[in-house]
Amino acid sequence: MPALERLMNEVGPFPPAMDPASIDHEADRESLHELTPVIDNAFAMHMKTDKPWYPHLMVPDVDWLQHHIDIQAMGEIRRGNKRDWAPEESPLPLAARVALEVGLLTEDNLPGYFRQVETMFGANDSLSQWNRRWAAEESRHSIVMRNLLERLDLVDPFQLQDDHMEQMSTMDVPDPPSIADAIIYVTLQEKATMLSHQRTGMLLEETAKYDNDVYPLDTEGTGLAEPDPDIWRQMKERGIGGRSELVRQVSRAVMTRVARDEGRHYGLYGKLGDALFETYPSLAMKAAMRQGILFQMPGKGIRDFQRRARIIADSRIYDLRGHREEIVLPVYDERWDIANLQGLDDEGKRAQEYTVEFLDFLGREVVRFEAGRDERWAQDPDAVWVGKESSEPSREPALS
Ligand SMILES: [Fe+2]
Ligand SMILES: [Fe+2]
Repeated sequence: MPALERLMNEVGPFPPAMDPASIDHEADRESLHELTPVIDNAFAMHMKTDKPWYPHLMVPDVDWLQHHIDIQAMGEIRRGNKRDWAPEESPLPLAARVALEVGLLTEDNLPGYFRQVETMFGANDSLSQWNRRWAAEESRHSIVMRNLLERLDLVDPFQLQDDHMEQMSTMDVPDPPSIADAIIYVTLQEKATMLSHQRTGMLLEETAKYDNDVYPLDTEGTGLAEPDPDIWRQMKERGIGGRSELVRQVSRAVMTRVARDEGRHYGLYGKLGDALFETYPSLAMKAAMRQGILFQMPGKGIRDFQRRARIIADSRIYDLRGHREEIVLPVYDERWDIANLQGLDDEGKRAQEYTVEFLDFLGREVVRFEAGRDERWAQDPDAVWVGKESSEPSREPALS
């Protein structure tokens, strides 16, 4: 039974505010006007604390590797012009490859998100200005992740490009029905993308069996340092420094850097959400109910998304427990304390009650999902190791 049907069976029919037709669009537009000083302050703070970073410095290309190190020792890194790419050629486990592909394709769809945000927020000059800056930061993510996947030959470049063409031609992205919904959605979404990128980096770290000094990154881990000949000599002596180590360390640095940006975006949108709950609690509460229940990842339109999302969930990069405990509860409970929200109109109160019940329901869904996962794993023990398609010899555990 689909989750929404189970929700209605267990908690009851949706309150009227679930229907987008019930949205008070006049109040919704007014709220945007009231949020202007908040966005101005948050944007100013964002720029004040900004540290520029450069995608081209983060991932070595074949020329760099040839110039600086013994490329033979690194194993084969091709220029991606052959159509016979096979999973064994990637040093990454399946889950990390899938997470990186989905992460990149999600970032690629920026024009779709930009259009949505501009449609919702464009009437407000401050937000429109922020949207342009945000787009520049997001586009940096697809640049650095494409460099990573293509330069280091981590995935099938032809498949990646075909997926990219299909994804962008469809431009199937979440479509919040109001300004308040959009604010709630982007707050959840930025935190969700942060978690997903962060945990992709963690999976790479967990599967890595290397010394942190193996690959010379600069002190912030955000760019390439000039390799110290001594480091390379020691690496060779110790029999390390092969391609797996390089790939894992660079991938981890890239994903950590990108996740940090998403965390900053979450910080900014979260402040807009805070202000919305303070000034328009009923509007915010109803939107929070809709977006909490209907939340979908921004990459939902990616080809074969369900299968890929399952692999990502099985690896615990992003699963229902992570979604509930790291995204929804920290935002709805700790940040907005929706269960104790005051000053709500009648429909707002019904939305509040339903949302509180929904959070409990989500807890039961976690238990159900994990029981199903354990059952699948009991039948196919190989599936526990989500990287089983990789050429890596060891069986590595999923994140725990
Ligand atoms: Fe991003
Ligand atoms: Fe972001």
